[in-house]
Amino acid sequence: MTYTKEEILLQALHVQLSYDKRPVLRDINFEIRNVVRPGMEQGQVVSLVGRSGIGKTQLFRLLAGLNTPDSGTITIQQQHQVKAGDMGVIFQHYYLFEWRTIFQTLMLAAKKNKQLAGKEMETILAYADNFSLAEHLQKYPQQLSGGQRQRVSILQQLLKGSDFLLLDEPFSGLDILMLDKVISLLLQVSVSDELKTLIIVSHDIDTAIAISDTVFILGEEPGIKGATIKKEIDLVARGLAWQKDIRHEKAFRDTVEEIKGYL
Ligand SMILES: Nc1ncnc2c1ncn2[C@@H]1O[C@H](COP(=O)(O)OP(=O)(O)OP(=O)(O)O)[C@@H](O)[C@H]1O
Ligand SMILES: [Mg+2]
Repeated sequence: MTYTKEEILLQALHVQLSYDKRPVLRDINFEIRNVVRPGMEQGQVVSLVGRSGIGKTQLFRLLAGLNTPDSGTITIQQQHQVKAGDMGVIFQHYYLFEWRTIFQTLMLAAKKNKQLAGKEMETILAYADNFSLAEHLQKYPQQLSGGQRQRVSILQQLLKGSDFLLLDEPFSGLDILMLDKVISLLLQVSVSDELKTLIIVSHDIDTAIAISDTVFILGEEPGIKGATIKKEIDLVARGLAWQKDIRHEKAFRDTVEEIKGYL
């Protein structure tokens, strides 16, 4: 599979974060590059995996520009320090406007996306249909199940159309059919634009690897407090990216085992 890694889209340099002098994140360094496949529009899907409590959500908040690190920098598109609003953010707990109907929430998001001008309504209806939300559009969030709220939350951010989509544990709480739908929707989004970049924070290693082209492993080095990026795995180079039904292949299982060894 021919591909090249081109310009840097996001770069984290020497990122540190502590609470009450206890290091949570320590010297985090990584970069996400534009993956280019000749003749194809191909975005990026990157996963950040690590054990529960290791600091994934904290790193997620820094990447989203919602918190600032104690030191170090996170830059996007080689221009500026990331700030709140630069990325579409889907939280681990799906915050929605409780006083707006699902339709109002989605319309508000669609209106922010210039590419959808004039097509907001049809786009919302098509997505809602695809996501089994069509009959819930006039409801308020408290009238939805957890899984329905999650899908609304994902849709809301998709509709906004930012280049970066950041998702915290997007696969939790989904039944198996919905999981497939969410995966294929995310993959669809990832190839919608050359620069579209999905960053998935997850402890569901299997699913994260199955949809990613690059995996970063967040963990602690023996005897040192604070999580850091212990390993980067290029799944394209291993022939594990951009393929359906990869989960049963030996190379996939081996990679899952290898990653577990770093956690
Ligand atoms: N406001 C805070 N004050 C002090 N410690 C905090 C604060 N927020 C988070 N922490 C600590 O930071 C560490 C990392 O938490 P984080 O939520 O990032 O974990 P996580 O990897 O996302 O876990 P999970 O997979 O369970 O979601 C935890 O030990 C947590 O107790
Ligand atoms: Mg978390």
